[in-house]
Amino acid sequence: MSSADHDQSRAPYLDAIANYAARQPARFHVPGHKGGAGADDAFVAAIGEAALSHDLAQGIDGIDDGPAPTAYSLAEALAAEAYGAEKSWFLTNGASQGNHALCLALAPLGRRIVAQRNSHASIVDGLVLSGGNPIFIEPEYDSELGMALGVEPAKLGALLAEHPEVRTAFIVSPTYYGLTADVAGCVEVAHAAGVALVVDQAWGAHLGFHPDLPPSALALGADAVLTSTHKLGGSMTQSAILHLGSSERIDEAALGRAIRILRSTSQSTLLLASLDAARRQLATCGEELLGQTLAKLVGVRERLAAIDKIKLVDESFVGRPGIAGFDPIRIVLDVRAVGCTGLEFLTELCDRHDVHPEMAAQATVVFVVGLAETDEQLDRLVTAVEASAAELSRGAVDVTPVKRPGVSGGCVVAPREAFLGEAEVIALDHAIGRISCESIAGYPPGIPALLPGERVSADVIEHLRATAAAGSRLHGASDPTLTTIAVLREERPA
Ligand SMILES: Cc1ncc(COP(=O)(O)O)c(C=O)c1O
Repeated sequence: MSSADHDQSRAPYLDAIANYAARQPARFHVPGHKGGAGADDAFVAAIGEAALSHDLAQGIDGIDDGPAPTAYSLAEALAAEAYGAEKSWFLTNGASQGNHALCLALAPLGRRIVAQRNSHASIVDGLVLSGGNPIFIEPEYDSELGMALGVEPAKLGALLAEHPEVRTAFIVSPTYYGLTADVAGCVEVAHAAGVALVVDQAWGAHLGFHPDLPPSALALGADAVLTSTHKLGGSMTQSAILHLGSSERIDEAALGRAIRILRSTSQSTLLLASLDAARRQLATCGEELLGQTLAKLVGVRERLAAIDKIKLVDESFVGRPGIAGFDPIRIVLDVRAVGCTGLEFLTELCDRHDVHPEMAAQATVVFVVGLAETDEQLDRLVTAVEASAAELSRGAVDVTPVKRPGVSGGCVVAPREAFLGEAEVIALDHAIGRISCESIAGYPPGIPALLPGERVSADVIEHLRATAAAGSRLHGASDPTLTTIAVLREERPA
């Protein structure tokens, strides 16, 4: 690569598709809308002619085809440099695609890995694809607020010592609530055991681009890190980046191969260009933009903290087990003292004030703040929270989060075997002791209570029913009413 190829102010992929669109070439290739001329008028009006003229086919010489380096490979190389990775891959099926690929590459058929029990569903889905077998590690848990936290290094070290066959451990940091785990500590114990540490940093695409934010997992030595760039970077929904920190413990070629089989042969140029642009924005003006947002949030937090019955989850939580840092770009409210649940609070904010948080659980409401939030938007948030707290205030009501089920007994058969095995649908009450074929999580907050391959327990059934009764959706359940469940058919003695 030439020195210009290291220039973070360039966006080679975005430039290449913009040049193609600007030339107005005769397009006798897909997509069939031909730059917009063949698309529905209302659709063109809604998303703009420019979006359609930049929506190209894959395989155009110099953009993603032809002699290396192509605009695509240069854009990925710039992303690797900006994030401090050895190699980065653009993903067009979200961070989910990254987790699927990591499982295919690092947890092949029969291989045992350690995974945080409350990992995103895409980890277990990845294991269904790959046939790997998880040993779960429970994260720390704040039972008052119903928040799953990070994994403690000492626990990880002890589990790895019990399972010397394990070569990869998957953890999550930061959490939905912006709380980061002691990643450096986890790296240390993993590497001491000869294990690669993979960090799902889906909620931290911006980490590493401002000194007042927690450090990125790559800077702390993680071997692979997944960033859902569309969540807290400026790229479009469904775009993400998977980074290889070091190829010492992870086979780069195997990971690249896994990513390739999981992607469409017609990846969206809009998603890819948005990743290239988001990387440029973070690398060249991320610190300034994040700094502006962080400065505004100081005042916003003071105003929120002054609202009667509203408490904030913030850096005062740092130092508790499972919490090594706090990402101030997130606003997390504890609304229990208002006398309503977080879900009721969210409904009030949406329905009465048209202010839409990222999610709510029983005790909490979570807002994601962007890189360039305006004073006006932030003021809307504070005003709506103040009004909602007053509107809903009804004194002490018990909003204790649903008790989480006891520690999982783990997968007694691999998730792949349970998911693809012969299933029978039986009454939930008769399923105790049987092996689940389903993954069921109460959403929010989306922590799976049951995974394919785990035994159904009375505890889990009670938890799922209480979660549904508290107003959460049951994500993944084949029967949303939870009357029945799919379990593995049992071998009957002949
Ligand atoms: C921790 C974590 N990992 C991975 C994902 C999947 O991300 P995506 O929606 O980009 O596929 C999510 C989504 O919320 C997540 O919370």
